[in-house]
Amino acid sequence: MYAWEKTVVDEITVKSSAIAHSNIALIKYWGRSLDHNANLNIPSNDSVSMTKHGLTLDMRLQTHTTIDFSDAYEEDTAILEGEVLIGREMERILRVVDPLRKYANIDSKFKMMSENDFPTQAGLGSSASGFAALAIAAVTALGIDFSKEEISTYARLGSGSATRSIRGGFVYWNKGNSHETSSAEQICGPDEFNMNSVIAIIHEGTKDVTSDVGHESAYTSPFNEARIRKSQEQAREIRKAILDDDLSKVGRIAEENCRYMHAVMMTSNPPLFYWRPETLRLIKSVQRIRENGLECYFTIDAGPNVHCLCRPEDTYELQKTLEKMESVNKTILVEPADDSHATREHLF
Ligand code: DP6
Repeated sequence: MYAWEKTVVDEITVKSSAIAHSNIALIKYWGRSLDHNANLNIPSNDSVSMTKHGLTLDMRLQTHTTIDFSDAYEEDTAILEGEVLIGREMERILRVVDPLRKYANIDSKFKMMSENDFPTQAGLGSSASGFAALAIAAVTALGIDFSKEEISTYARLGSGSATRSIRGGFVYWNKGNSHETSSAEQICGPDEFNMNSVIAIIHEGTKDVTSDVGHESAYTSPFNEARIRKSQEQAREIRKAILDDDLSKVGRIAEENCRYMHAVMMTSNPPLFYWRPETLRLIKSVQRIRENGLECYFTIDAGPNVHCLCRPEDTYELQKTLEKMESVNKTILVEPADDSHATREHLF
């Protein structure tokens, strides 16, 4: 049992809160395994990520969530950024909370409130931090004695990438072959591999096609099988490179894996183009900056913005260089985060 806090307000009201970080995938999850129910979000390949902590006070890249179970509520309610969630968004919340409520043998309704300190649904990982925060808060509120690995399996039910956001530092998600075995483990803590990221923001709007929907189309690309096979090899290789503190190898593998995923997206039916012209310009710039002696690498999730991976000591110089570019609206500085965790600070 962790020292995660829970507040018992009275016999039938249990309120808990959690703060969780988003993550950037170095080896991407794209497409669910066809051997399992799609709602389980069991991926077709292992993936690897860095959990993100914003270096500036106003943008830590985290979600703060409070959940309260009480017999006083007549229905389940979830509020994200002041908006009451309905339809598919509410279904995803229930996919996490319902099995936990069942496990705890509690049938009280809940009220959940969640806030991000960064743009939602813009390819910056808000559902990863969101569902990780929800899983931690709900497990804590319901008094369930789960390991972090077990909690990661419940975060996964809301959003695949949330599996990796339970842990800090550098994280490996084993695809597994069941709900119980598809979980995340830490490769190493935030101080054990020296890498930061400068996110070059090109466009902050919401995505046209969410990754949740995009996963469905991965199998329509003739290149997906090759991507899955290569991703399995790359996940193991990158784990070793992280443990060896080998940025050159990590960067090279991350760039390659990112190109594989976007090649699959662009060749799916219907095709998915998350890049903007500025994204390609940025990719070229990262290559040029590297040739000029500042070691950096790119990776891009399901959006147009470019994560530029670098050594911590090069972060501010890289930021200065990127901010001079016309295509870059602004930058966000990122270092590896600690584990996501429960907090005594409640949102209501
Ligand atoms: C491209 O299904 O976790 O970021 O739709 O936001 O829940 P949401 O995303 P998710 O897919 C993430 C896809 C990815 C790659 C990755 O994070 O591994």
